[in-house]
Amino acid sequence: MDISIFGLGYVGCVTAGCLARHGHRVTGVDINEAKVKMIESGIPTIVEKDIIKLISSGVSSGQIYATTDAGEAVKRSDVSIICVGTPSDREGHLDLSGIFQTAHEIGDALKSKETFHTVLIRSTVPPGTNEKTGKIIEEVSGKARNADFAIVSNPEFLREGTAVSDFMNPPYTVAGSDSGSGIEICRSVYAGIDAPFEVVSTGAAEMIKYINNAYHALKITFANEVGEICKSIGIDSLELMQLFIRETHLNTSGAYLMPGFAYGGSCLPKDLLALRTLAHDSYLETPVIASIDKSNKNHIDFALKMILEKGLINVGILGLSFKPGTDDLRNSPMVTFAEQLTGKGYKVRIYDGNINASRLLGANREYISNHLPHFVSLLQNDISDVIRMSDLIVISHRHKKFLEALLSNPEKEFIDLAGVIQGEKPANYEGLCW
Ligand SMILES: NC(=O)c1ccc[n+]([C@@H]2O[C@H](COP(=O)([O-])OP(=O)(O)OC[C@H]3O[C@@H](n4cnc5c(N)ncnc54)[C@H](O)[C@@H]3O)[C@@H](O)[C@H]2O)c1
Repeated sequence: MDISIFGLGYVGCVTAGCLARHGHRVTGVDINEAKVKMIESGIPTIVEKDIIKLISSGVSSGQIYATTDAGEAVKRSDVSIICVGTPSDREGHLDLSGIFQTAHEIGDALKSKETFHTVLIRSTVPPGTNEKTGKIIEEVSGKARNADFAIVSNPEFLREGTAVSDFMNPPYTVAGSDSGSGIEICRSVYAGIDAPFEVVSTGAAEMIKYINNAYHALKITFANEVGEICKSIGIDSLELMQLFIRETHLNTSGAYLMPGFAYGGSCLPKDLLALRTLAHDSYLETPVIASIDKSNKNHIDFALKMILEKGLINVGILGLSFKPGTDDLRNSPMVTFAEQLTGKGYKVRIYDGNINASRLLGANREYISNHLPHFVSLLQNDISDVIRMSDLIVISHRHKKFLEALLSNPEKEFIDLAGVIQGEKPANYEGLCW
């Protein structure tokens, strides 16, 4: 394919070299003349393993060409890949001027281009950039989006230091667009790459890099805080974390990574507090570990705000224990939730098939007596009584019975904290984070 690449920095240079290796004809564009001259001479603009060979052989075989002329590059190609920089400004906002300037240049060149053109946004950009880039191209070119050109959000996952290998072996190739043709053309660009091709919504394609990088940074800082605590009490953190990562069921897996309701129970809150205290006793700050509990509390408030905004006084709660399949109410976020609602004058009714008030014992009974003294009068034995007496029903456990209640009561409002329904949602439904 004939491909133009806007921006010949880290991502653009690697993309040019790798796509030429896969047989494409590449025209690189940059506003920096020095970078263009380097590529023209077969010299990469970055220092990276294997890149010298890719760029020099691409240029000598005639597959890589470089120019400062954006119009020429668009005319020489069917696909333009935007790899320009997106630096942060002082306040942390991204400076997207490079993206929008490129959109102007592409739009200008498309005025006189008759064939369909596909634009892949490879730079890391916030949600809405795909839409805005399309609008600029449409306005400048006078052409119609999806009829004359398409925009595909197609993020890059390479890491500096292993960039060529990462480009050639990505975890997946991601594409998000409102154009089916754009998606198929994007698929052809990466046909030489042996990785799953994931077609997702444009928003998900735009967000994934931010989520990946935030999570990677979280992992690094978490591990470093563990290291600081260990060092202060004479434990080898490398041995400890080697042990930690060998647990692949909950520790290094997809477990706990789906948005849902707050955590609770007898272990997580207690052990987190113990770890914070260990750090504190060693005069360590550990802000990541220290803020986990605050984040969890904020999430309960986030859910509560959704309920309050509905303005419905009769609220039913389906599921009170801290997770399904247990009657453990200790530190259940749903108890906090019910406590706050009753405190605000809401009429709360609760159903939880695992809870029998007369059988609650020991610390469990003590916890509920302290936090929800009128608990017995709120608990109903029959789910249908809760539904009948409530205008708004909050589902906190993933349970078939609760899904059935949602589907068979279209006149009632439902808020789902647990993700009981996949696919299309009924009109009386609102999910917590989806
Ligand atoms: N560096 C990485 O490891 C990496 C990995 C994945 C994604 N990204 C993302 O990719 C994008 C590019 O990153 P980078 O590290 O390659 O940046 P970079 O600064 O190395 O290169 C950007 C290039 O774009 C050029 N440019 C700016 N405006 C232009 C325009 N209007 N027309 C043509 N060229 C223009 C600049 O001159 C520069 O050469 C960023 O959004 C970045 O967040 C970077």
